[in-house]
Amino acid sequence: MPSHETGKEKVTMTSLVKCPMCSMSHLPLKGNLDRGTYACTCENCGHFFKFQAVGDLKSSITLTINGQSYNIGNEYNPATSLLEYMRQAGISRGTKGCCFEGGCGVCLVTVKFLDPLTNKPRLYTINSCCLQLYTCDGLEITTIEGLGDTRDGLHPVQDRLAKFDGAQCGFCTPGQVMNMYGLLQNNPKPTMQEVEDSFDSTICRCTGYRSILDAMKSFAVDAPPTLTKKGGVIDIEELDGKMCKKTGKACIGHCGSHVKNGEAVSCENSVPRPLHIVYDQAQWFKPLTLAELTPLLKQYAGQSYRLIFGNTGFGVYGEVGPWNYSILIDIRGVQQLYTVDLTPSDHITFGANVSLTALKEAFESTTDPGLPYAKAFATHLGLVASNSIRNLSSWSGNLALKNLHNDFASDVYTILETVGTQLTIVDGDGVSKQYSLVDFLSVDLKGKVIVSMTLPKYNSSDVIIRTSKTSHRLQLCHAHVTSGYNFQVDANNNYLVKSKPSIVIQGINGQLVHAVQTEAFLVNKNLADPAVLQNALTVLSGEIVPDSGTVLASPTYRKSLAIGQFYKFALGVCQNKCSARFASGGLDLVRPIMTGTQDLGTTDPSVYPVTESMMKVTAYNLTTGEVRFVADQSPRQGQLYAAPVLSTQGNAKIQSIDASLALQIPGVVKFIQAKDIPGRNFWRPRGLEAPNLIKDLLSSGQVQYAGQPIGILVAEDEVTAQSSRYGVQVTYTDIKPALTDIEQAIQQKSFIGRAGPAVRGNATAAMAAAPHRVSGTVRCSDQYNFHLENQAALCVPTDTDGMYVMATTQWLDPVIQAVSHALGMSESKITVETQRIGGGFGGKGSYNAPVAGMCAVAAYLTKRPVLMNLDLHTNMQFQGKRTLFVFEYEVGFDDDGKLIAIIATTYADLGAQDSSSSDEHTTAFIDNVYTCPNWSYTVQLVRTNKPVSTAVRAPGTAPAIFGMECMIDHVATYLKKDHLAVRKLNFMKDGDMTLGRMLIENCLISDLVAQLETDIGIASRIQAVNDFNKNNRWKKRGFHVMPNKYAMGWSGRKYATSLFVNHGDGSVHLCHGGIDMGQGINTKAIQCAAYKLGIPVSLIEVKPTSTIVNTNADVSAGSTTTDIVCLSILKCCEDLLERMAPSKAKLKNPTWQDIVNQSYRDLVDLRAHYQPQIRDKYSSHYVCWGACAVEVEIDVLTGQYQILQVDYLNDTGTSLNPELDMGQLEGGFIMGCGLFLLESMKFDPVTGQPLTDGTWEYKPPLGKDLPIKFNAKFMRNVPNPSGVLGSKIVGEVPVSNGACVLFALKRAVEAARAEQNNTDWFPFHAPATVESIQTLCLNDLSQYTFGS
Ligand SMILES: Cc1cc2nc3c(=O)[nH]c(=O)nc-3n(C[C@H](O)[C@H](O)[C@H](O)COP(=O)(O)OP(=O)(O)OC[C@H]3O[C@@H](n4cnc5c(N)ncnc54)[C@H](O)[C@@H]3O)c2cc1C
Ligand code: FES
Ligand code: FES
Repeated sequence: MPSHETGKEKVTMTSLVKCPMCSMSHLPLKGNLDRGTYACTCENCGHFFKFQAVGDLKSSITLTINGQSYNIGNEYNPATSLLEYMRQAGISRGTKGCCFEGGCGVCLVTVKFLDPLTNKPRLYTINSCCLQLYTCDGLEITTIEGLGDTRDGLHPVQDRLAKFDGAQCGFCTPGQVMNMYGLLQNNPKPTMQEVEDSFDSTICRCTGYRSILDAMKSFAVDAPPTLTKKGGVIDIEELDGKMCKKTGKACIGHCGSHVKNGEAVSCENSVPRPLHIVYDQAQWFKPLTLAELTPLLKQYAGQSYRLIFGNTGFGVYGEVGPWNYSILIDIRGVQQLYTVDLTPSDHITFGANVSLTALKEAFESTTDPGLPYAKAFATHLGLVASNSIRNLSSWSGNLALKNLHNDFASDVYTILETVGTQLTIVDGDGVSKQYSLVDFLSVDLKGKVIVSMTLPKYNSSDVIIRTSKTSHRLQLCHAHVTSGYNFQVDANNNYLVKSKPSIVIQGINGQLVHAVQTEAFLVNKNLADPAVLQNALTVLSGEIVPDSGTVLASPTYRKSLAIGQFYKFALGVCQNKCSARFASGGLDLVRPIMTGTQDLGTTDPSVYPVTESMMKVTAYNLTTGEVRFVADQSPRQGQLYAAPVLSTQGNAKIQSIDASLALQIPGVVKFIQAKDIPGRNFWRPRGLEAPNLIKDLLSSGQVQYAGQPIGILVAEDEVTAQSSRYGVQVTYTDIKPALTDIEQAIQQKSFIGRAGPAVRGNATAAMAAAPHRVSGTVRCSDQYNFHLENQAALCVPTDTDGMYVMATTQWLDPVIQAVSHALGMSESKITVETQRIGGGFGGKGSYNAPVAGMCAVAAYLTKRPVLMNLDLHTNMQFQGKRTLFVFEYEVGFDDDGKLIAIIATTYADLGAQDSSSSDEHTTAFIDNVYTCPNWSYTVQLVRTNKPVSTAVRAPGTAPAIFGMECMIDHVATYLKKDHLAVRKLNFMKDGDMTLGRMLIENCLISDLVAQLETDIGIASRIQAVNDFNKNNRWKKRGFHVMPNKYAMGWSGRKYATSLFVNHGDGSVHLCHGGIDMGQGINTKAIQCAAYKLGIPVSLIEVKPTSTIVNTNADVSAGSTTTDIVCLSILKCCEDLLERMAPSKAKLKNPTWQDIVNQSYRDLVDLRAHYQPQIRDKYSSHYVCWGACAVEVEIDVLTGQYQILQVDYLNDTGTSLNPELDMGQLEGGFIMGCGLFLLESMKFDPVTGQPLTDGTWEYKPPLGKDLPIKFNAKFMRNVPNPSGVLGSKIVGEVPVSNGACVLFALKRAVEAARAEQNNTDWFPFHAPATVESIQTLCLNDLSQYTFGS
């Protein structure tokens, strides 16, 4: 077919062009725009022809990042996100990635979008993993690097966050900074409430948020002096970060001074221009008008196309991810879709491009009496997703998701349908039609676009509109059930329902929108009539028929919740008809601003800088995002990217692996399977080679869990490596159901050996003779480590046939061994190095070794540097979680509750492990702070088809302490005695021996609890809770005190430590075997060295941990590492000072530098090295004691709760650095709250695939999961005789006390059950979710009255 060039005809974006050969009119498909000439192939006849483009149609985009302009053509796949682009291009490595689905918030940047309410550009914080690169044409973006740095000066937010110790590992830190930066840009003088409300986007696993929130609230206008000590409200000029190179003043973003490639570019928002980018696999269109959009819709209606506004939809449903489509149409440029009209007398209108934030703000700011729902909607919208997602996404995108998935419990749909919102939808011919939201659900949206919505105004004052949402986590969490009520009532006539009300309920099944029968029933009935209420509830109950689903909350709960929400509404409306006890049932829990105190205990200025509070030495590098984690390194020349191919079956044999499809994908370099491994297919460290333990790097036959690696895909870029692995086709035989449920596994006796019994006295005989006995079973769930930095390794072949490995690991030793095994290479040829990790929490103890092993194989076989950087889903599927425990017990005791005998079996779900290698030392912790004379304790190890369980902060410890607390709780409940009194009766004392054979010395538990009781005025607190419970039927409070003990168990772990003095300037550097993961190890090591050498901390640095110097170092875990490293540093200093002493003696009043110079001249070796030795008589050296008191309030009708107050008293000895230790205490406690309140895994019952492997379903705590008042205190004047300079460890200690919240909730649930005269004991498994709280309250419909 000859080609034809007219060169005369002009095409605009949407003008139909006629093929000169066959005369068919169509939009140019698969065309390309090059310097004004648009070339395309006729769809009808295949004729190739060209047109001259007119107007602004562009085939490249220009965006501005931190004042620099970037021009991008079609070199990126249209599915590329801004985050991927910035990281690939090396523009921002401070902006991190973890979940890539909008749910973790480490990727926040700010961007200027049009604010439809003001019609002006405005700065928003958004998730750069969602925002598409090609959406950014003409946009100004600011990343963490654009704010400030340690050389040119910090932005006040960066400075403040560092000073408040808001950065521990630092991986979430840029996200936290950008969130605050975005807030201040729009609202330079926020209130504390506004600050707290906007911190719902970025997860922090380390800090427990208090320090972050305090830092940010210090900018608030109403911040108290306690917060403004380190700086308060800032001036407007300080808001902008970097200085303008031209003016020398803060950049205001539109001076036109930024220069790129010698070309001055303006950072002003450019005028939007239509766009068409053509890439091999996809095309990107950006129309600017509806007239340009509709022909595109028409043309591509039959094809795989997608509209894009915020592109957040894929965080909910993967199939709307841009990579699944060949035509992507960016509707952000269509100006007609931004309409906002609040002026008409009977309705308001919002265009489809109005973001959820703008919608919320419109409702917030209106005072129009015709919009009685405005405030309720604003509040409800504040609970949709997060601040940054709302900034990015539209209400119409949300509704389109609902259209695709009718069972989506959309909050947006719920509130809009509550007022009968009408949609205007336009089709490809430009024809516009109105739809009700109910009809909308069955509209085929192909070839159509939602243009606007119309909401009614009301002209009567008797309309009551309220909405409700109950979710697993308060913030950034979709609803279990969400509902909306629109009633016109006559309040003076016993709340007569004057017209058909609207009751919208979502989260039940895909069909139920309205409770139509209940709506019909209530017409002309008096809502405040108890009989009407009862009948309405019965009708409602009949029409709610929930679906069940593997990840959904149970149908029973969702039904009960929907009914509870309606009853709550009725109570709320008919407040004046309710008895005083019932009225509060109609109110939502109110969360005031968080407060609290930190009492840092005793310091000793004579030994400063030891015991001195000081921020981390790298704090500023962390808050500026300067520090680089493994995946942040600049790519080496020729670097490739690898991703593991994971099994999708949990109990099967691999029949065949066919990678041919994947290998055809452009950019894919290699597929590697077990047979390709050059050395041994083995990753376990030597000594852990027990038979049958999963040790294959890549499975070659049997797969033991879904998520087990079976191959490695290597590609030229990260996205191709990660996406193309799905092209590897694996077939399985011998497929059996995967065993993932521990109860089933116990029934089937899937046992792999046992530990114990640990025996004391004669438990059987003592039990038989005990006056009272109770028995029970309680479960403590699995918990994912959720380090924000996923597992990663970078492997670089060296020029002497060796391998350099940079690994994100807590333990270099297994990494070097895994690489050595896999490559058949001697360890001396391999160097493993770790500078820092973005959180580990045990997950990077051993599980980084297979990642580094796989990465090394890829680097070895391709002879090129390779980075393997897992995404969150892969990480969660592949690696184990905290061991799940089931405690089965019988306890014998006397009339007072004194323990006589305990016989207990703990079932430990180790996952797909065939070796009885770990009971996680629960025997050492099971007795917590109590002495029982007769014990028989067994740990039964259970095998399932889950990944082998992993240590997670306080492994074994926190669950075991929970197990013991459940037992003693059971005793107190049975005897109906005060829970604390029964506990105190059994407290350990000096001279007692624990079940784990540790002699108790310096026992502080009685004193500590007594002090806590005094501090908090326990009697009046309990009285207040009891009074509250008497006065409130549907709100209950619980109060509980829980003591805990953590036995510091150093049993010979090795962290060889070296100290080097540089004679040139006297500076010192340290190399130790520990890993900096945010706990402050390096800062404390420097403090110890500075104290002992008598030099300033600024003279000392810590180098990366490397196998060059720190060969054989043990795992940094168990809270022991900092202790041992500090001890070793002190020893090194002593050794060095002793050797320098003769030189010093030669000098008069010498400075440090003089002594160093003299020692150097005297040939003193200015290096020191120390390996600590086991010195003591039992395996644990000392005990850390602690206790906390927790008060909570629950909403009995929904299960929602608030932690009202926590008072935590901890024995930290004389802290080496109280400020950092306080961070450890708070962070550990909140991680414990995650374990005991929120986190657990669900698995597919057939394949065993994890179903909660991403941020949509898995919910670690966020800011508003914190106690409203959190007082944390270190005990005073209790130096630790066995600790380093009187100190004690903190890191893992507070995790177990998260269980105290669970017990406080249990007390509240007991109060609710007592209303029904039910005082029976019941098991309260961890996590104590809203679902279990509400279910255990045993709500009974017949009690849903207005009270008497
Ligand atoms: C982390 C996270 C948490 C969330 N939490 C909640 C929550 O608590 N409650 C809740 O209700 N929702 C929640 N969501 C869903 C969120 O509200 C939607 O993802 C968002 O509103 C979609 O808007 P968007 O502009 O990003 O749509 P996009 O992702 O750009 O598009 C989504 C879909 O809508 C289509 N579409 C977009 N605009 C139009 C239009 N004008 N006409 C026709 N079709 C269109 C697209 O073709 C695509 O299929 C959450 C999402 C995320 C990522
Ligand atoms: S990486 Fe963007 S939200 Fe998680
Ligand atoms: S400091 Fe927040 S995740 Fe580590």
